[in-house]
Amino acid sequence: MAITVKTKREIELMRESCRLLADVFQNLEQAVKPGISTMEINILGDRLIRQHGCIPNFYHYNGYPASICVSVNDEVVHGIPRKNHILQEGDIVSLDAGLIYEGYHSDMARTFGVGQINEEAAKLIQVTRQSFFEGIKMARAGNHLYEISNAIDAYVRPFGYGIVRDLVGHGIGTHLHEDPQIPNFAQSRRGPRLKPGMTLAVEPMINMGRPEVEWLDDDWTVVTEDGSWSAHYENTILITEGDPEILTLYES
Ligand code: MF3
Ligand code: CO
Repeated sequence: MAITVKTKREIELMRESCRLLADVFQNLEQAVKPGISTMEINILGDRLIRQHGCIPNFYHYNGYPASICVSVNDEVVHGIPRKNHILQEGDIVSLDAGLIYEGYHSDMARTFGVGQINEEAAKLIQVTRQSFFEGIKMARAGNHLYEISNAIDAYVRPFGYGIVRDLVGHGIGTHLHEDPQIPNFAQSRRGPRLKPGMTLAVEPMINMGRPEVEWLDDDWTVVTEDGSWSAHYENTILITEGDPEILTLYES
């Protein structure tokens, strides 16, 4: 499948889809506190998405049973919400969600600390976030896609963290996952040329220890092989004639 270039009208719909999703995240972040269950976070997120008149795009995606992915500590992504999984002070929790507005998908993820977290965990979250911003400095028309991948890798490597290789970012639009795939580690090729109107979900997943991950028996939850903690930071972005536009941006 070729990489889709969105029309002006499609870009407006993408912008609105992403704006609504960022609003959902702002509310979810407030709810992240010791004592809440991962299922309660999912129920809240599902309700907020539907209150906007939108559809949670993760729900029943390839059989995924919830609307919000909630991944705690050594869970990297795709954690399944459970009513008996209660967040504890000091945990880190990655929330990943998306919605469909007028047929257009948005997708974003953040890792939050639960109450007071230790310094190493806070640093992992901060470096993961910054790796996204380092990557998208290269997200400019005329550049090649893997310049984003290379920039993320170059920034993260000196910290000694493990960059997850088995999961990647992606194009997004009328489908949650469109071409191209966007690795978060250095590539030997340069990849396709970026054009204004492309919309991409850039999403580094970074482990405190080794990069290897494995799948739990639920067939969804991805965990680090070495048990180290993991962070995730994702936005849907638009390639423009100038600086990339971060469509799901919000800062807490
Ligand atoms: N959030 C993932 C991504 O960023 C997709 C999750 S699919 C689900 O590409 F089924 F797990 F929800
Ligand atoms: Co994504």
